[in-house]
Amino acid sequence: MDVFNSEFIASSPNVKNCPNEFIPEYAFIGRSNVGKSSLINSICKKKNLAKTSGKPGKTRLINHFKINNSWYLTDLPGYGYTRLSKTEKKNIEKLITTYFLHRKQIRLIFLIIDIRHKPLEIDINFMSWLIAEGMRFCIIFSKCDKLKKEKVNALDYILKIKNKLNKEPKYFTTSSKKNEGVEEVLKYIEGLNVL
Ligand code: GTP
Ligand code: MG
Repeated sequence: MDVFNSEFIASSPNVKNCPNEFIPEYAFIGRSNVGKSSLINSICKKKNLAKTSGKPGKTRLINHFKINNSWYLTDLPGYGYTRLSKTEKKNIEKLITTYFLHRKQIRLIFLIIDIRHKPLEIDINFMSWLIAEGMRFCIIFSKCDKLKKEKVNALDYILKIKNKLNKEPKYFTTSSKKNEGVEEVLKYIEGLNVL
C-alpha cells in the first residue's frame, strides 16, 4: 500500500480526549525506546512526524496520525522505563490499559520488541494481559539493522512465547533506519482495513 498522505491529528492525555472518528486504528505499543515512533515515521516516509529520541520516555501522550485520509496510526508512550517514579510508571500503565479497554476503533495492536532482547517479563506480562482481554496483537521486531543478518532470530523468540503463553503471534521483522520490513506491515494493514 502506498502511503500518499499522513498527518498529525492530536496528542491526547487520555482516551476521552482522543479524536472520536470511527475509522480503523492500529496502535503501536511496547517498552520505552524500542522504536515505536521511529517505525511510524518509517511507515509514513517522514523524518519527524512522530517525535523520537535516543533517551527513553520521549512519547508521553497518545498521538494520532491519520493515514491516507482513512485510518489511524497511534503512537503511545512506552512502558517499563525504569527511571520513572513508581507513580509515573503506574500512570503510564493505566493510560495504556484504559486506552486499549475503551478504544473500540482499534483493529490491531502492534507490540514492538527490540530484536536484540530476549523475552522479558514485562513484555510477557503485557502479552498475557492482551490475551486475557481478548485483544488482537502482532509483534513487530525492531532495530534489525543492529544485528548481523545471521543473528536475527525472531522465530526463536516467538517459540519461547508459544511455550509460555500457548500462543504464536504473527510477527514482522523491521528496521526503521534502513526502511526494511515496513512494506509487509503496510500490506497486512491494507488487508485488515477492508474487513
Ligand atoms: P518512547 O517514546 O520513549 O517510548 O520510545 P520509542 O519506542 O518511540 O522509540 P523511538 O522511536 O523514539 O526510538 C528510540 C531510539 O532508537 C532513537 O534513538 C532511534 O533513532 C533509535 N531507533 C529506532 N528505530 C531504530 C532502528 O530501526 N534502527 C536503529 N539503529 N535505531 C533505531
Ligand atoms: Mg515514542
